Amino acid sequence: MKLILLGPPGAGKGTQAQRLIDRHGIPQLSTGDMLRAAVAAETEVGVKAKAIMDAGNLVPDEVVNAIVAERLAADDCSSGFILDGYPRTLKQADSLEALLDVRGQHLDHVIELKVDDDVLVKRVSGRFSCAKCGTVYHDEDRRPKNEGVCDNCGSTEFKRRPDDNAETMRSRLRAYYKETSPLVGYYHCKGTLRSIDGMAPIDEVTESIEQILRG
Ligand code: AP5
Ligand code: ZN
Repeated sequence: MKLILLGPPGAGKGTQAQRLIDRHGIPQLSTGDMLRAAVAAETEVGVKAKAIMDAGNLVPDEVVNAIVAERLAADDCSSGFILDGYPRTLKQADSLEALLDVRGQHLDHVIELKVDDDVLVKRVSGRFSCAKCGTVYHDEDRRPKNEGVCDNCGSTEFKRRPDDNAETMRSRLRAYYKETSPLVGYYHCKGTLRSIDGMAPIDEVTESIEQILRG
């Protein structure tokens, strides 16, 4: 299964991707996570990407395309993958298509999570995640079952993203509507797009995705 989760910042792409990994045994390819790892490791890409990400802008296409090309070549992607946060521009979508063509692969589904802007801002400003396994939580809606202990791995360390603040979120939303939302029409024309209500409770969104995957 080869799948793209498309949607604005805070739409729930990462939350749903985590669930799909467990259920379908395929990897999540999050360009945001890959770039944050590069920033933490202070690689050449990371050093360049940090200021761009902190400002809520998009990292240049050629940088992101190269990261994805390298990751897609790994063995664990041969039978399927979930792309989370990629592609984000029409150039990235073209690059992905060329990459998959060479590998004789095609996308099965592009699933758009639709969420209103005011809800997105609220979600992102309350978000935190486990520092060890990355499980995502929210101050109001989704706290660990045992306060201060990760449900998934038992770690007691949590972190917040530097770009999860109201000002940076405004830039991220601007970038989404300008650069990424044209992909909705792009994939609609290709017949692969399915749009779902991303404002429903997390379990219901998962069920809507599973229904699409069942065909
Ligand atoms: P990235 O890491 O991709 O961030 P994003 O797209 O802004 O998306 P988020 O991770 O913020 O949200 P999400 O949709 O995964 O939501 P989540 O599940 O966490 O990108 C970061 C930066 O990296 C970009 O700004 C850019 O600079 C750069 N970058 C990355 N990819 C790039 C690319 N391809 N090209 C160029 N630059 C790139 O959920 C959010 C919160 O809501 C959580 O607290 C969660 O618990 C809660 N929640 C989720 N679903 C629900 C629900 N149904 N109901 C209630 N609460 C919910
Ligand atoms: Zn954890």
